[in-house]
Amino acid sequence: MTGNSFGTLFKITTCGESHGGAVGVIVDGCPAGLAISENEIQHELDRRKPGQSSITTPRSEHDKIHILSGVFEGETTGTPILLLAYNADMRPEDYDALKNVYRPSHADFTYMMKYGRRDFRGSGRASARETLARVAAGAIAKKFLKQFNIEIFSYVEQVGNIISEIDYKKVKRADIESNIIRCPDALVAKKMIALIETVRDEGDSIGGVIKCVIRHVPAGLGEPVFDKLSADLGKAMLSINAVKGFEIGSGFSGVTMRGSEHNDPMTMHEGKPQFTSNNAGGTLGGISTGEDIYFRVAFKPVATISKLQHTITQENKSCSLEAKGRHDPCVLPRAVPIVDAMAALVIMDHYLRHKAKG
Ligand SMILES: Cc1cc2nc3c(=O)[nH]c(=O)nc-3n(C[C@H](O)[C@H](O)[C@H](O)COP(=O)(O)O)c2cc1C
Repeated sequence: MTGNSFGTLFKITTCGESHGGAVGVIVDGCPAGLAISENEIQHELDRRKPGQSSITTPRSEHDKIHILSGVFEGETTGTPILLLAYNADMRPEDYDALKNVYRPSHADFTYMMKYGRRDFRGSGRASARETLARVAAGAIAKKFLKQFNIEIFSYVEQVGNIISEIDYKKVKRADIESNIIRCPDALVAKKMIALIETVRDEGDSIGGVIKCVIRHVPAGLGEPVFDKLSADLGKAMLSINAVKGFEIGSGFSGVTMRGSEHNDPMTMHEGKPQFTSNNAGGTLGGISTGEDIYFRVAFKPVATISKLQHTITQENKSCSLEAKGRHDPCVLPRAVPIVDAMAALVIMDHYLRHKAKG
């Protein structure tokens, strides 16, 4: 299996499965002298962990992170950083019924076609437990970017057909964390939670949209042509489990506008160039403009549901499936820190690449 690494100068390599011994990540290319602690990384992991509320999976994984190399006396040394979380609360028997059956819309069939074998206990490498490693590495990137006042936050904007119209410019971090769905719009959050509870009680699942905002990115980050900042953000987001869509700036809504409406006019403000609108979403030609970068990420309703479904066995025989086990009815609240982390990894990598040019 290749494709376990991400990034160029700031590079991560993840390993581990949901029901193996541990999930880990090697973070390579972090400059020396960055103060980082297990507690800071743990804070981000606790936002991702299962069992954090009534609308996430009841699995109670503690995801305790260990820094095993690359940090000395509380600061990075410039050498590879190894972060590891041992797996706990494993109940492989939950997956016995899935041993020979392909779950519709999960990765069981494609892993089998590609490798001729698969770890059926919690989907092995296709399990979102792998994203624990990304969130841990992302905590380091977030801390690095904070030194330059670069701020990243994400929130749930839509669940099913319930949409928050909140203006991202008014969103405060505390409002995102003020409810279990991580939507800063309190009234809409209540409706989203009620919908997820209904879906959960029906043994079903539901998807939604996360919005991510990155503030104070200087103009100039991004490497045309194939490593555009927008393209790398797109790849980062589309690499997250269950993501089906990515749009930056005006995205798909831009297609109904005229150029005269969509163009972002430029002006001078206190001696500095400025854009008076931001349909671009903070990048032009794959390079950051200095405006807010904002994008939306669409998550599907996840595959494992306890409703009756038709599928086939590994022996190509028709069968039906009512999945048992402890699954997420809606992954959106747990995916917020994953989106944050992937955004941080991309921005830190491009920050270092831009600086390396001198
Ligand atoms: C935080 C998070 C938790 C997830 N939990 C589940 C789950 O409980 N059950 C499930 O079927 N899929 C879950 N998924 C999605 C699967 O990992 C994913 O759908 C699967 O690997 C197939 O890949 P794809 O949907 O990206 O094509 C989760 C995804 C995320 C981001």
